[in-house]
Amino acid sequence: MSDNGKREKKKESGFSVVRKTYKYFFPIAWRIHKGFFFASAIRTVVGAIQPFVAIIVSPLIISELLGERNIARLIVYAAILAVAGPLLSFISSWLSVVNEKYGEKFDNYFEEKMSRMVTELDFQVTEDKNALDQVEKAKTGMDWYSGGVAGVFSPMFEIIGEIFTICGTVALIAVYAPWLFLVTLIVAAVNAIIQNKQNKIEIERFGQLSKINRAFGYYGWQTSDFRYGKDIRLYGAKDLMVERWNKYTDDSIAIWKESGDINHPLDHLKNVFNVSRDIASYLYLGVLVLSGGISIAVFTQMIAASSAFNSSLGSLLYQLQDIVKRCNYAYEFVKFAQFPAAIQKGNRHIVDKPHIIEFKNVSFSYPNTDVKVLDGVSVTLRQGEHLSVVGLNGAGKTTFVKLLCRLYDVSEGEILLDGVNIKEYDYNEYMNLFAPVFQDFKLFAFSVKENIVLDGVCADKELKELIEKVGLADKTASLEKGADTVLFKSFDENGIEPSGGEQQKMAIARALYKKSPVVILDEPTAALDPVAEYDIYRQFSTLVGGKTAIYISHRLSSCKFCDRIAVFSEGRIKEYGTHDELICIDNGIYAEMFKAQAKYYN
Ligand SMILES: Nc1ncnc2c1ncn2[C@@H]1O[C@H](COP(=O)(O)OP(=O)(O)OP(=O)(O)O)[C@@H](O)[C@H]1O
Ligand SMILES: [Mg+2]
Repeated sequence: MSDNGKREKKKESGFSVVRKTYKYFFPIAWRIHKGFFFASAIRTVVGAIQPFVAIIVSPLIISELLGERNIARLIVYAAILAVAGPLLSFISSWLSVVNEKYGEKFDNYFEEKMSRMVTELDFQVTEDKNALDQVEKAKTGMDWYSGGVAGVFSPMFEIIGEIFTICGTVALIAVYAPWLFLVTLIVAAVNAIIQNKQNKIEIERFGQLSKINRAFGYYGWQTSDFRYGKDIRLYGAKDLMVERWNKYTDDSIAIWKESGDINHPLDHLKNVFNVSRDIASYLYLGVLVLSGGISIAVFTQMIAASSAFNSSLGSLLYQLQDIVKRCNYAYEFVKFAQFPAAIQKGNRHIVDKPHIIEFKNVSFSYPNTDVKVLDGVSVTLRQGEHLSVVGLNGAGKTTFVKLLCRLYDVSEGEILLDGVNIKEYDYNEYMNLFAPVFQDFKLFAFSVKENIVLDGVCADKELKELIEKVGLADKTASLEKGADTVLFKSFDENGIEPSGGEQQKMAIARALYKKSPVVILDEPTAALDPVAEYDIYRQFSTLVGGKTAIYISHRLSSCKFCDRIAVFSEGRIKEYGTHDELICIDNGIYAEMFKAQAKYYN
């Protein structure tokens, strides 16, 4: 990740960012909605023709009025002015409505893509502050900052249109009033410099606000998530949260104010330059008329042409900067899409046979820390073996299973599956081997059934058996909609709030349903009542069947039904053996822990 940070600091040129952004988005946008590009192209042509109606027809009317005054011709000219202008405007605005719809479709597509990408991120990345900032930047970068995909491509069409208009008006002005360019170009150049400064301020503000928005999101989400409600109320967390929230609000206001303080005077300055340019242009053209250099009709034409030229040139310079600015924002999405993988993934297939898992001298430090949470862990687990993992808080038990489940890559040593480093296997196939119930498992605001089955299809009979096995039969039977009852009240006012133990039973059912050859239960009975706990112990062999099982528990009585016990202490396996072996070790950690617990039951 630090690599990524370094890469970010190396500033890319505006052109390179536009090129890369277009290279990423164009093939996707073209594939999903070609219509957007056709509509934009037609709108460009219409927009480029539009100013020429007045530029060409107005002087004709004036010449006619000053000359022959042919009524028929005057009517034709007036009709062209009256019909062509509004018609072209109508077509242009209709096409912009069409493109707005495409814009929304693009937004939906990329919002969904973003959600997918976030859920597919390597787990390790989700704890990285840079990555989380990048997620926020990618999200906000794709909203109004860039205007999404439509916003990224629109300036390109505008630029083409403006170039067309500029070429036409230049040709006209060059013939009659060439000096008009001088004043116009000077003002346009000064305005471009000012605009460039304003864009830089905005891009800087975007970077600062992305960090703050993420913090905002966190506090906003916590205060509105009723699962935090008890702790917030009973521990007075409200004041701390409001205080933090206010701090971020103040920071955010300060950033807007700071950029506004610089931006507003610059806006006024641009206006002053524009007005000065118009005055100078009129004076120059007026002098030309008075000196007989041009006719009144040409004067009118020059006024119309110079006005079109000014606005097109201003717009061209603005669009050139705007395209860079918008692409800079949208490029954050591209950077996120190309985020480097945190863990190594191979393509070796897993052979369907009894598996042997082997930790060989595995050490591990969490990313961006140098504390060895695991230090030289070696252990072998054969198919069907039940390993109990015990140890004090922070000993490294959960970390041990996180490494096995490939949520992180080991720092030193290796984990082998059937003699092959697990990094070499196809990631999804490998993940399918494991059905873990983590300490901090999460259930979703779906039905009981959906929480157990998730993306699978489950026959009612199988679901019923599973529910019975984990001791949820009575609870489910008592619910009006049975297993179709929705959990929590997030989306359904009749949603139920299962107790901690009931939630744990559902999580165990979900793990068993996955039918993976390795089941991992991290503190699976912590929230269960003694009867339910006893049931799980009693039925453990039936529950996990011939599967390999890793069972992390602080209740040492549960170790008795496991084949082997690994006692973790300070990141190492200090003792390893059966219950009967470990209990006999003089001053052994396990023996001491077991005696300490047994004391309470005597
Ligand atoms: N994501 C993380 N980033 C940094 N350090 C972490 C992270 N997760 C855990 N740790 C640290 O690693 C150490 C081992 O944690 P682990 O969760 O493996 O302990 P444990 O044995 O499962 O403890 P418990 O019995 O409390 O569940 C702890 O000191 C913890 O603070
Ligand atoms: Mg743990």
